[in-house]
Amino acid sequence: MSFLYSQLFIRPPYPTKSFTDRVVIVTGSNVGLGFEAARHFARLNAAKVILAVRNTSAGEKAKQSIESSTGRSGVCEVWQLDLASYDSVKAFAARASSELPRLDIVVENAGIATHSFSLAEGHESTITVNVISTVLLGLLLLPKLKQTAKEFPGSAASPHLSIVTSEVHAWTGMPEWKAQNTFTALDDEKTANMQERYPTSKLLEVLVVRELAPKLADSGVILNMLNPGLCHSQLARNAGWGLWLLKLLLARSTEVGSRTLLAAAAAGAESHGAYMTDGKEDNEAVSAFVRSEEGEKAQNKVWNELGEILENIQPGIISSFLLK
Ligand SMILES: NC(=O)c1ccc[n+]([C@@H]2O[C@H](COP(=O)([O-])OP(=O)(O)OC[C@H]3O[C@@H](n4cnc5c(N)ncnc54)[C@H](OP(=O)(O)O)[C@@H]3O)[C@@H](O)[C@H]2O)c1
Repeated sequence: MSFLYSQLFIRPPYPTKSFTDRVVIVTGSNVGLGFEAARHFARLNAAKVILAVRNTSAGEKAKQSIESSTGRSGVCEVWQLDLASYDSVKAFAARASSELPRLDIVVENAGIATHSFSLAEGHESTITVNVISTVLLGLLLLPKLKQTAKEFPGSAASPHLSIVTSEVHAWTGMPEWKAQNTFTALDDEKTANMQERYPTSKLLEVLVVRELAPKLADSGVILNMLNPGLCHSQLARNAGWGLWLLKLLLARSTEVGSRTLLAAAAAGAESHGAYMTDGKEDNEAVSAFVRSEEGEKAQNKVWNELGEILENIQPGIISSFLLK
């Protein structure tokens, strides 16, 4: 019922807060929510907006559209990032760390929703893109975010790392969490429940943010997550007529959906670890499973398992992100 109410009657407020001097990265910003969020950041005076995209010619088109609609040129830059490749994620993070004068906001928005099973970097693709690479990128960019917090302490807002999750995290209890190893279970094509895979990836994101937030409490960086609501976009382009009908009746425009991405990037310190929906914090909107004792066990278990995967990709990453 709250989903229906929110979709039908609530419109997050139009973003107006200035991002003057801020350097912003938005992943998956050639289309959809990421594109509209990047347009808002450019309109609201950000110093630099990096469009982190896997298809740079689509990124260049997005950049042109943002420049002509906002009248601001020389603000957007198109950088290559493919979350299906760990080398690409590492190269992107290394470039951001060395080339950017500061890094104030990272909106991790890119994601996929598919019912087809395929592997990327040895894991099922949805898990690789939405979860493993998303967390890898966030952790690799943390030192730059922390450095910005130290070097620009007078800034009106601390650096932000905002992860785009979804209300569909509540549509699964992720039975795989009880397997000996959750990620190994999710990688088994014979048993994979691909109908639930996208919600599972979003649930994993929610659990990871909740696990990481207390560990980053003194980092100077605000980590939060958000749900944009059901929106018209290219996500789930191969889903059936059921979703098509639901969108026809209930979906927000991508511009309206993107407003919660901006709200998360502008939210204060109280939003650290929080879930934002309809443009504001609402930790009660996190699923009952996530808030349960079982959910907490799952959170701890999947974090330890993900930590092992991340350590194999980038040795030392888990111990180093805890450094101040
Ligand atoms: N739309 C909704 O109703 C809704 C609701 C809740 C949450 N969300 C979340 O919102 C976020 C954005 O979704 P959207 O609706 O805007 O979908 P979208 O229009 O399909 O946009 C997804 C973006 O992610 C990029 N992407 C996909 N795979 C990538 C990869 N391997 N590396 C780098 N970028 C990649 C896409 O690039 P290409 O154009 O090259 O494919 C695209 O730019 C997602 O995290 C989604 O889960 C959406």
